[in-house]
Amino acid sequence: MGTNFAPSSVFKKVKMGTRYNQKNYSVYDKILENPYTTHEIMHWYLGDLIGEGASRWVFDYNDDLVLKVEKGDWMSNAIEYDTWVAVQDTKWAKWFAPIVDISDNGRLLWQKKCKKVYEQPKKLPSFFSDVKLSNLGELNGRIVAVDYSINKLIEAGMKGAKLLKPKSYIKE
Ligand SMILES: Nc1ncnc2c1ncn2[C@@H]1O[C@H](COP(=O)(O)OP(=O)(O)O)[C@@H](O)[C@H]1O
Ligand SMILES: [Mg+2]
Repeated sequence: MGTNFAPSSVFKKVKMGTRYNQKNYSVYDKILENPYTTHEIMHWYLGDLIGEGASRWVFDYNDDLVLKVEKGDWMSNAIEYDTWVAVQDTKWAKWFAPIVDISDNGRLLWQKKCKKVYEQPKKLPSFFSDVKLSNLGELNGRIVAVDYSINKLIEAGMKGAKLLKPKSYIKE
């Protein structure tokens, strides 16, 4: 049969039964009609609001994590996530509040919870561009950036760039 991704019932004679575990969600529509109940459910899942910036609301998700909810279309969560992915295995990782998960469309982001800081650190990496106390936190006794959705790492990648002859195999 080789490798294929068709359901096995295409090749085998299978008696068709109910394919899905069908659920009736109409009760949710009724719950959503009542904003007070909706608020309590959202609070249960998101936690208390512990911070807010121009682009995100930040919730106290649990003892270990905050949950960042995107307000508009700045894509701060996606940029922060991609930045973390790029730096996580480098020597610079210790300057960033680690990210542990992002939702499929980037509207929700889970990040390690940090303590507030009240004093500017003596030094910070040069690629942070939105440096202010409210964008910094303390994690395991170190100052880290909690908001690195605006940074110069993309531009920094152009430093030292030069023109190269394309490799011959790039023909298609
Ligand atoms: N990892 C975190 N731990 C604790 N508090 C945080 C964390 N991330 C953000 N906050 C709080 O939420 C506020 C807004 O978060 P921030 O990431 O700066 O959002 P924005 O991108 O909208 O500026 C911060 O100033 C800080 O008080
Ligand atoms: Mg901020």
